[in-house]
Amino acid sequence: MDFNNIPELEPDRQYYFMNKCKELILDKKTEANRTLTYCVTTFGCQMNAHDSEKLKGILEAMGYEEVEDEKADFVIFNTCTVRENANKKLYGHLGHIKNLKSKNPHMIIALCGCMMQEDHVVETIKKKYSYVDIVFGTHNIYKLAELVYMNLSTNKRVIEVLEKSDTSVENLPTKRKYAFKTGVNIMFGCNNFCSYCIVPYVRGREKSRKPEDIIAEIKSLVANGVKEIMLLGQNVNSYGKVFDYTDGKIEQVASEDMVTFPKLLSMVCQVDGLERIRFMTSHPKDLSDELIEVMAKEPKICKHLHLPVQSGSTDILTKMNRRYTKEQYLQLVDKIKKAMPDISLTTDIIVGFPGETEEDFLDTMDIVEKVRYDQAFTFIYSKRTGTPAAIMPNQISDEVVKDRFGRLLNKVNEISSERTKRFEGSIKDVLVEELNHQDKKLVTGRTEENVTVHFEGDSSLIGENVKVKLLQCRGFYFIGERIKEDE
Ligand code: SAH
Ligand code: SF4
Ligand code: F3S
Repeated sequence: MDFNNIPELEPDRQYYFMNKCKELILDKKTEANRTLTYCVTTFGCQMNAHDSEKLKGILEAMGYEEVEDEKADFVIFNTCTVRENANKKLYGHLGHIKNLKSKNPHMIIALCGCMMQEDHVVETIKKKYSYVDIVFGTHNIYKLAELVYMNLSTNKRVIEVLEKSDTSVENLPTKRKYAFKTGVNIMFGCNNFCSYCIVPYVRGREKSRKPEDIIAEIKSLVANGVKEIMLLGQNVNSYGKVFDYTDGKIEQVASEDMVTFPKLLSMVCQVDGLERIRFMTSHPKDLSDELIEVMAKEPKICKHLHLPVQSGSTDILTKMNRRYTKEQYLQLVDKIKKAMPDISLTTDIIVGFPGETEEDFLDTMDIVEKVRYDQAFTFIYSKRTGTPAAIMPNQISDEVVKDRFGRLLNKVNEISSERTKRFEGSIKDVLVEELNHQDKKLVTGRTEENVTVHFEGDSSLIGENVKVKLLQCRGFYFIGERIKEDE
C-alpha cells in the first residue's frame, strides 16, 4: 500500500478506502463471475437501525449488492446488549452461519455494535469463533471501509474496538430503508447511568452534534425525498449541554450559545418540504416547559411522545437512579396533556428490578392506569454485568417476575386497545410506508400518533401523505378508507 497517498482527514480517508475496496471486490466478482452480495442484520434500538443504514451506504459504495438472506458474501451483525436475550440471539445466528461460510470462499463475517464494546464478548469471539473476520464497536462504525480493506488486503482477522469516539465523521454515504423517512442522530452516548443500564458503558459519554450539521443533513435528506425524520439520541432533552470530562467527573459547563433541544426542534421545523418530525428518547427528568410549548405550537411535530417511566414506585425509581418521583412524573404528564389533549403517550417499563416488592409493582400498575399509555413496551429486568444494579441485593425470582409481567402486560394491552379506539371515525393524515404483507390490494401507513392503518391502495401511494378515514379498529391497528382531498 502506498501510505503517502492515504488522506489523513475524514471523510476523505474513508472515501479513499471505499474506492480501494471497490477495486478488490471487482476482482473477486470477476473471479466468481457473479455479483457479490451483503446482508446487514440489526438487533436493538433505532440508533442501531440508523447505524445500519450507514453501514449499508458504505457497503454499496464498495460494490456489494443488498440481499435479505444471511447466505450473502458479506454478512454483518450490528449487535445489541441491552438485555441478555439480545446477546443470546447473536450466538444463535453465528452458529448457523458457520456452515454457510464453509461453502462460500468469498464470505466475510463482521460483527459490530454495542455488544462488541464489552471485553468479555470480544474475548469469546477471539477464542471460540475463529471464522469471524472483522470486529469493531460503536465508536468506529464510520471506518468500515478501512477495516474491510485491511482484511481483504492482508487476509488476516481485523479487530478494532475503541473506548471512546475520537471524532464525529460527517458526510458518509447511507442507504435508507425507506426513501421517505429516516433517523437523524442529534447526539451520541449517554451520561445518565440508570443503575440497570449498560448503554452508557457501550455507547460512551454524551456528545451533541452541531446544530448546523444537523440542519444541513436534514435539508439534504429533504432534497432527496425525505418527508419524515426521527431525531435520535438516548436523551434528546439534554441536547446541546456541554460537558467537562476532566478527572473522570462529568460536569455540565456553561456555553454561551447553547442551542437547547426545543430550539433545535424549532430550527428543524423551518426546513421547507419536511412534513413530519419525531424524536426519541425523552428522559422525563429533563423535559422542559419550553419543549411542551414548541411541540404544541408546531404542526410538523408529531403529537406522540415516548416518555419511558421504567417504574411507578418512587423507591425503585431512586434505586434506578432515574432522578424523578412517581408524583413528578404524573405532574409532567398532566402538563403535557393540558397543552396537547390529543397526544399519544408511549413508555418503557421494567418489571422485577432488584428489591421490587408487590407494593412497588402495584405502584407501576397504578401509574399505568393513571397515564393510560397508547403503547407500553414492557421488559423483564435483565442483569447486566458491570452495572450497579447487578450487585444489588434481593434479585427477584423468575416465578414472581413472570407473574407480575403477565399482569402488567394484560393491563397495558387492555388500555392500549381502548386508547387506539378513540380514533375510530376520524380522518387522519397517513404516511404510506409499504404494500400490506398479507393482502397486496392494501397499503400500510402510520398516523402522526404512530397508529398503523391499512387501506385499499397501490404502490404509487408509497411515500405519500394521504387523508384516510379510520373505519374499524382491530385492537392496535385500523382498517381505513382513503378520502379524496375535496370530500
Ligand atoms: N435511552 C432510553 C432507553 C434506551 S434502552 C431511555 O432512557 O429511555 C431501552 C429500554 O430498555 C429502556 O427504556 C429500558 O426500559 C429497557 N432496559 C434497559 N436496560 C434494561 C435491563 N437491564 N433490563 C431490562 N430492560 C432494560
Ligand atoms: Fe440507559 Fe438511562 Fe441512558 Fe436511557 S437514559 S440509555 S435507560 S442510562
Ligand atoms: Fe441495544 Fe445499543 Fe441500542 S445496547 S438498545 S443497540 S444503544
